[in-house]
Amino acid sequence: MSTALRAPYDVDKNAFDRWLMDRAWPRKDLAKAPAGLKPVPGDPGLPLLGHSLEMLRLGLNYAMKRYDQYGPVSWVRAFGVNVVSASGPEATQVVLANRDKAYSQKGWEYFIGPFFNRGLMLLDFDEHIYHRRLMQLAFTADRLSGYMVQVGDVVRDSVSSWSPKDGFLVYPALKQLTLDVATKIFMATTLGGEATKLTKAFVDTVRAGTALVRLPIGRWGAGLAGRKVLEDYFRRSLPAKRASDSDDLFAALCHARTDDGETFTDDDVVNHMIFLMMAAHDTSTIATSALVYYLGKNPEWQAQVRAESLALGDEPLTVSTLEKLPTLDLVLKESMRLVAPVPWMVRRTVKDTELLGHHVPEGVFVTTLSWLNHLLPEYWTDPLRFDPERFSEDRREDKSHRFAYMPFGGGVHKCIGMHFGTQEVKTIAHELVRRFEWTVPADYDVRWDPTALPLPKDGLPISLTRR
Ligand code: HEM
Repeated sequence: MSTALRAPYDVDKNAFDRWLMDRAWPRKDLAKAPAGLKPVPGDPGLPLLGHSLEMLRLGLNYAMKRYDQYGPVSWVRAFGVNVVSASGPEATQVVLANRDKAYSQKGWEYFIGPFFNRGLMLLDFDEHIYHRRLMQLAFTADRLSGYMVQVGDVVRDSVSSWSPKDGFLVYPALKQLTLDVATKIFMATTLGGEATKLTKAFVDTVRAGTALVRLPIGRWGAGLAGRKVLEDYFRRSLPAKRASDSDDLFAALCHARTDDGETFTDDDVVNHMIFLMMAAHDTSTIATSALVYYLGKNPEWQAQVRAESLALGDEPLTVSTLEKLPTLDLVLKESMRLVAPVPWMVRRTVKDTELLGHHVPEGVFVTTLSWLNHLLPEYWTDPLRFDPERFSEDRREDKSHRFAYMPFGGGVHKCIGMHFGTQEVKTIAHELVRRFEWTVPADYDVRWDPTALPLPKDGLPISLTRR
């Protein structure tokens, strides 16, 4: 991409237009649609608050309720804006495949833009393709195998320090572990004395997106402060990283160069690193927590996963040795179906468009709901049941529709770290089953906090014993 093509994106000249659009949108008349199209059905809820409180309280159940009430396309008012929900695989496909380029990442920008400014997921169209191509150079198969050896080392070290007990809070332990992985593999460093401050900054930036009050106080304010801490940290570390020849992801972004000589600027590297650390860290923690929970609830599956891991012995996990752990693969897929680590994705229309026969005007926020798609009885048998075999070759329920199962999203923004994330979670699970056994009480049902990405409200206590 030439500098000329790039320049308009570097300066946010359109901020005022967007501010105006945010204010104008609530007055857009959803009840009207051009001939041949239906308006989007829905309702605004309470004055000011809309349906925000029900969404925060009920999360997925609220989405299900709306789906049953209105069908796959409906609108709701929440978090200060009106949002069209594209639920179910058919509607999701229209939005994520984005054939007429109507759906932009400006949806994410509204919710997390101030905290993850110009991260890959917030870029659009040609500019996104340019950055994604460059970033892909840090995720080649060769690089991935190098990262995986290092992931194995960090995981073994970290897990060996766990002290088993009844009521062991596994979620915070996994969060620390995935942060250790991210700092080691992404930055070839440990966070040292800054660890607590940086961890808090990551947590605050992620949670800020669903703040009800978008002022520099409370949840939103903490997110802004968190962004500053992270920017300072990466900017300070950048000159040394540019000069180094280390094989971490931070260095890979600094040195990425296409055959046409395209490279990332310092700002690009800082913005991408902040987004990548977040994207890699929280999602993997949630996927591993869900897996640990379901294995704790289903000891027969835990035993089967363990048997395969023990048979593999001390062989390092690589793309080919992972193939010897088929049960772990089924269990991870099923865990991410039952708890989608990124339960919803958001876009914003940049022109009027049609969604399953409904008229969606320009400037509208549109969400797709992977978690809901994962649980629709039209596509899954007994959807709430933990049944890893539904992914086995003779059943493959995930093939019922291209967008029935989508923990990593779909379309051009599909997760760039999908292979890294999957291998990281499997590496952690492999080490855990080899060293420990764990259970959760039969009557315990973990409650996932739906206010940002799904987190276990109580830290997910398990009864952990050493083998
Ligand atoms: C289990 C782990 C993970 C899950 C479930 C997950 C899920 C997702 C999803 C659903 C998206 C699409 C968002 C959208 O379309 O709006 C996404 C995008 C992304 N993910 Fe992941 N992710 C995981 C791990 C990772 C890791 C380990 C990395 C980095 C090493 C990463 C980096 C990214 C990036 C950069 C994007 C934006 C891609 C783009 O816009 O082109 N993710 N992820």
